[in-house]
Amino acid sequence: MESKGRNLFLAVVLLSITSAAFSSPHHHTGLTPYYYNYACPQALPTIRRVVKAAVKKERRMGASLLRLHFHDCFVDGCDASVLLDPTPTIDSEKLAGANNNSARGFEVIDQIKEEVNKVCGRAVVSCADILAVAARDSVVLLGGPWWNVRLGRRDSTTASRTTANMDLPAPFMDLNALTSSFQKQGLDAKDLVVLSGGHTLGFAQCFTFKDRAHNDSNIHPKFAKKLKTLCPRSGFESNSNLAKLDPTSTRFDTLYYKNLLKQKGLLGSDQALFGGGNTDELVRTYSEDTTTFWKDFAKSMVKMGNIKPLTGNLGQVRNNCRRVN
Ligand code: HEM
Ligand SMILES: *[C@@H]1O[C@H](CO)[C@@H](O)[C@H](O)[C@H]1NC(C)=O
Ligand SMILES: *[C@@H]1O[C@H](CO)[C@@H](O)[C@H](O)[C@H]1NC(C)=O
Repeated sequence: MESKGRNLFLAVVLLSITSAAFSSPHHHTGLTPYYYNYACPQALPTIRRVVKAAVKKERRMGASLLRLHFHDCFVDGCDASVLLDPTPTIDSEKLAGANNNSARGFEVIDQIKEEVNKVCGRAVVSCADILAVAARDSVVLLGGPWWNVRLGRRDSTTASRTTANMDLPAPFMDLNALTSSFQKQGLDAKDLVVLSGGHTLGFAQCFTFKDRAHNDSNIHPKFAKKLKTLCPRSGFESNSNLAKLDPTSTRFDTLYYKNLLKQKGLLGSDQALFGGGNTDELVRTYSEDTTTFWKDFAKSMVKMGNIKPLTGNLGQVRNNCRRVN
């Protein structure tokens, strides 16, 4: 009996050790969900409050904030480089192809930063962490999953439009190019498919799907016809016309994937995930299994949020997200 009890005890200890070692992605990055618990316990509730008000005012803002975190992380890591305004020494990423006249939500981040600075008494919460938390809160507010955001990122003192132009994926990319783009960030094909599910929210401008609407063959005819009316082949006036990335663009549901099965993906990069390639099965799974989509999305968001964070003495905590201190 005694030895059985001891074995059980040992087994429990071993199990805790191994599960602690394998179940904490923040272990490798130095990020932790508890980072602001002592320094500023009001930080996260304050971010949530401002995001909630902004999303209530305009539902699309939730989509825009989610995309900002993605565009931050893919360019030299999650370091708020995307938020820096152009100056003679800052090569602003806001002017990169994927962001110019497209990325939005900067005013909401400014407002969050201002209120968080106030409630914390000083600038303790980094702009990079604000982006990560605002993305999570946006997803939750629009009916999606919650995840524990790892925190403790610091902010960059530089930005790179060149890197943004190289590393942010484009809507005309095929599955190979998309896979490479994600692989460069340490993300695999599953991350690609599930994070593309972010397109269950928000809008895209005509110029991002014009080629697909007019030229692609892997597009549902009725769907293409509608898009061609919204986005005629010639003329620049219509280039900023908006189409929903999925028909329920303010609800975090699985319609994005269901539409890919019917060749109704809006962007070429969306449809590339379903059409004979090795990601078809995963698209099919997410199209019919909300629970798995949510679980995997949350997991991959944590993984994306872990890309090359600045920690320790690296970088700084900006007072104003638009400029270095
Ligand atoms: C896989 C490669 C991806 C490509 C090529 C891509 C491309 C695009 C494009 C072209 C737009 C429309 C921009 C515009 O017309 O102004 C867009 C919007 C959006 N993207 Fe992606 N995206 C990708 C992955 C992601 C990921 C990983 C996320 C987040 C997890 C995401 C979230 C969004 C959201 C929420 C919007 C709507 C933004 C709004 O309405 O303001 N995208 N994306
Ligand atoms: C960004 O957009 C503005 C306004 O449409 C345009 O004038 C400018 O040339 C664009 N900048 C770059 C670098 O593409
Ligand atoms: C479609 O393809 C043709 C021929 O390759 C090309 O000239 C055109 O620019 C493409 N895009 C659109 C929107 O028609």
